[in-house]
Amino acid sequence: MIETFTDLDPLRERVRGWKRDGLRIAFVPTMGNLHAGHFSLVKRARELADRVVASVFVNPTQFGPNEDFARYPRTPQADADGLDAAGCDAMWLPSVETMYPYGVEATVRVQVPGVTSTLEGAHRPGHFDGVATVVSRLFNQVQPDVAVFGRKDYQQLAVVRYMVRDLAFPIEVVGADIVREANGLAMSSRNQYLSAGERAQAAEISRCLAAMAQALRDGQPREAVETQADERLAAAGFVPDYAVVRRPDLTEPAAGETGSMVALIAARLGRTRLIDNLEFTV
Ligand code: PAJ
Repeated sequence: MIETFTDLDPLRERVRGWKRDGLRIAFVPTMGNLHAGHFSLVKRARELADRVVASVFVNPTQFGPNEDFARYPRTPQADADGLDAAGCDAMWLPSVETMYPYGVEATVRVQVPGVTSTLEGAHRPGHFDGVATVVSRLFNQVQPDVAVFGRKDYQQLAVVRYMVRDLAFPIEVVGADIVREANGLAMSSRNQYLSAGERAQAAEISRCLAAMAQALRDGQPREAVETQADERLAAAGFVPDYAVVRRPDLTEPAAGETGSMVALIAARLGRTRLIDNLEFTV
């Protein structure tokens, strides 16, 4: 049975015991309301280590003032059951007070430069500061050997890799593939907000990403591909924040550049903001 920890000392005691036994520990940070995408990370973690810890914490510092922190779905019992079934050994379920003992306003903040200035960072000011702040303390709390993040949050993975290298965390970071619904919609806790009709509509995002990759491969100029994608999303009822093609490090490719690329979309459907991406080669 999975063990749930809400206090830091018992969690540390358990992890110390495992380490004394020479076991390797993998960690999967989440905000809960878990779905098959999260569970695929736990399964990947199982392959990489002897014990798996997952955290469930809706992190207030990564939500903007007009974002969905208050209404973000919280389902800790279902999460514990799902984690147990996926083979997770421990669930770390801290309160906001445990995570931020000095309070959210007075917390030590971690700020990653560069990669945070564009795309999600530009549209959600302070978001990645909140992510880096909470992931750094989660790493200190759990002290894993390896941590698994989804490629669904492509830029977040880049931010975490940068932070781990720069702050010299002794942790290996592993990226896991995006898990999708049958219609191509990337799984997300925020899909809960969508009506049945919107869910069908939302599949347009993954089709649009595939079309962007194909158009680039067909030799169309990047700017034209991005404009077409923007228009296609707007015509399908979205309010797009961006639809772009970038290098894997999220810088802009030069005209006619070949190699590894990633197409990224963020778009709002009603009150719900969705993100997705597709890695491909030109
Ligand atoms: P959350 O949105 O709950 O996502 C937790 C992890 O699950 C992230 O690494 C995310 O990329 C991954 N994930 C979500 N949907 C996925 C899908 N369809 N396929 C594969 N992986 C998927 O990301 C966060 O929480 C937070 O920012 C966090 C890192 C926990 C810090 O608070």
